[in-house]
Amino acid sequence: MPHPLGAPSVRREGREKVTGAARYAAEHTPPGCAYAWPVPATVARGRITELDTAAALALPGVIAVLTHENAPRLASMGDPTLALLQEDRVPHRGWYVALAVADTLEAARDAAEAVHVGYATEPHDVRITADHPRLYVPEEVFGGPGARERGDFDAAFAAAPATVDVAYTVPPLHNHPMEPHAATAQWTDGHLTVHDSSQGTTRVCEDLAALFKLGTDEITVVSEHVGGGFGAKGTPRPQVVLAAMAARHTGRPVKLALPRRQLPGVVGHRAPTLHRVRIGAGHDGVITALAHEIVTHTSTVAEFVEQAAIPARMMYTSPHSRTVHRLAALDVPTPSWMRAPGEAPGMYALESALDELAVVLDIDPVELRIRNDPATEPDTGRPFSSRHLVECLRAGAERFGWLPRDPRPAVRRRGDLLLGTGVAAATYPVQISETEAEAHAAADGGYRIRVNATDIGTGARTVLTQIAAAVLDAPEDRVQVDIGSSDLPPAVLAGGSTGTASWGWAVHKACTSLLARLRAHHGPLPAEGITVTEDTRQETAEPSPYARHAFGAVFAEVQVDTRTGEVRVRRLLGQYAAGRILNPRTARSQFVGGMIMGLGMALMEDSALDPVFGDFTACDLAAYHVPACADVPAVEAHWLDEEDPHLNPMGSKGIGEIGIVGTPAAIGNAVWHAIGARLRDLPLTPDRTL
Ligand code: MOS
Repeated sequence: MPHPLGAPSVRREGREKVTGAARYAAEHTPPGCAYAWPVPATVARGRITELDTAAALALPGVIAVLTHENAPRLASMGDPTLALLQEDRVPHRGWYVALAVADTLEAARDAAEAVHVGYATEPHDVRITADHPRLYVPEEVFGGPGARERGDFDAAFAAAPATVDVAYTVPPLHNHPMEPHAATAQWTDGHLTVHDSSQGTTRVCEDLAALFKLGTDEITVVSEHVGGGFGAKGTPRPQVVLAAMAARHTGRPVKLALPRRQLPGVVGHRAPTLHRVRIGAGHDGVITALAHEIVTHTSTVAEFVEQAAIPARMMYTSPHSRTVHRLAALDVPTPSWMRAPGEAPGMYALESALDELAVVLDIDPVELRIRNDPATEPDTGRPFSSRHLVECLRAGAERFGWLPRDPRPAVRRRGDLLLGTGVAAATYPVQISETEAEAHAAADGGYRIRVNATDIGTGARTVLTQIAAAVLDAPEDRVQVDIGSSDLPPAVLAGGSTGTASWGWAVHKACTSLLARLRAHHGPLPAEGITVTEDTRQETAEPSPYARHAFGAVFAEVQVDTRTGEVRVRRLLGQYAAGRILNPRTARSQFVGGMIMGLGMALMEDSALDPVFGDFTACDLAAYHVPACADVPAVEAHWLDEEDPHLNPMGSKGIGEIGIVGTPAAIGNAVWHAIGARLRDLPLTPDRTL
């Protein structure tokens, strides 16, 4: 493919963002705009028995208070977390029970605090345990059946000369994007226009249409710029529904930015996972039996399963295997997607257990993974479209200076510090979804691409411009790319690391058709130019005959302060194989960002649920710690030039999520190497390391 694919093009909207000219969802203020502030439930389970809004309504500037008694009726649809202010039931603490609307933000907040709500409480249960009485195995999880057996695990494990049988826990985690969930909604002559902070407005538009019984042509949802989402904005969230309800109820445009402290209750979280991993291997290190069983929670509102046992089905040689998800519906907020759902916690447990097996066998952990690299995908027998995990392990080890490594733990002392190194593998599936794109050649020689992609900070606009320019053999500055509105041709959300592959394929196809039309055209273009529209329905309809995954290897060096217990990551190096890298500048940022999120998962992030209070205890960025610049002194991302003809015309895999995968295990394994204690519960805070 010609230039500029693979060029380090700078972000198209970079200047707008750094100068403050870029407008986010809460920064649109239509004339007459009112402000809303939600009222969360203060009990963990029960029913609303009293509602008194008189005091709130008497405050100056207050326009309305919406409750289940007066709010617009919503049609029921696929996502029950959006059935807001429809009934008196409180399924968990933080569930919205009212919404105050006023002329100013301050008045709305005052009014929300003045709403009196009384409850009849019921006993609640928010504590998941490995033997919870209500555990069940879901039929399906994302990526396969809830439980899967291959061969005879029990017999093979019992016969294995070397075994590990270990348990790990990952606590609940929250996405906490910098930009909170926000929406500004306005009804004009029956048409609903919303600026929403979302990872995909095609779905938001469809869901609003279902809830308000409208056609999708009666709704426009715009997400021009998004300040991060990490999965929490992958589906429509309460802010967009509440803003639209309040705007309909009051006849005014309404703006609603969810307060940071309310986010944990209403926009999803990574559910906690309790893992049991059993691995049996021969003296040569080759795995004969592998079981990964996880226990997790969902809410009583909707079933969401953190599919953490899925990667154990494709990572390593394992002739006898058992992979099972079990969950219970508790009185907790509804969990949802958080960067690499399934893979992030699943690979933490699996890759930690591999490290423990390496110690049992006295085999170098890099070498152990190489010995268990399967020729075909273990669970399906399908050939890999490309698999360069071994190459990643070797190249990463070389770059990191892995060898020579003394495998003994707790022997590298520098004053009060103990040092160690660790490694883990990473993987993430290739997923591609149907998208439509329009390509237009103008009479003046310029091009315009229209596709409802979303740029959540990844550089989507930039890379789509590169793809169009490459196909059209045009300079990038002659190509305009319009994204971020549901009025554009429909597209899949920015999630599941699918964006570039899905949107890019449609753009590639539309530009290829346009180029053919242009080549067949003689003489000057007509004044209206030439426009073509293409979709990838056919290309994405059938599952691939290949097992398609990106791979990587993460290496970490840590120091543990023996007086304070503080773990610091001295170096973090990721080596990836993820198909063709379309823009090394934005790609590096994706990989490094994911690795830093993995560092947070390893060392600090923890949304503990208090069993008595019945809710998360860390609800803002003062309590929920994420890495700061001083925590990430040396993070490197590298990649192999991987040729894979079984993906899409660009040859790209997804890269948005793989960075978080493997990083927590690499750090945890390095901590073991440093201090000689195997810590199996994240995060690795000083109270645990000491
Ligand atoms: Mo990502 S968790 O699929 O938005």
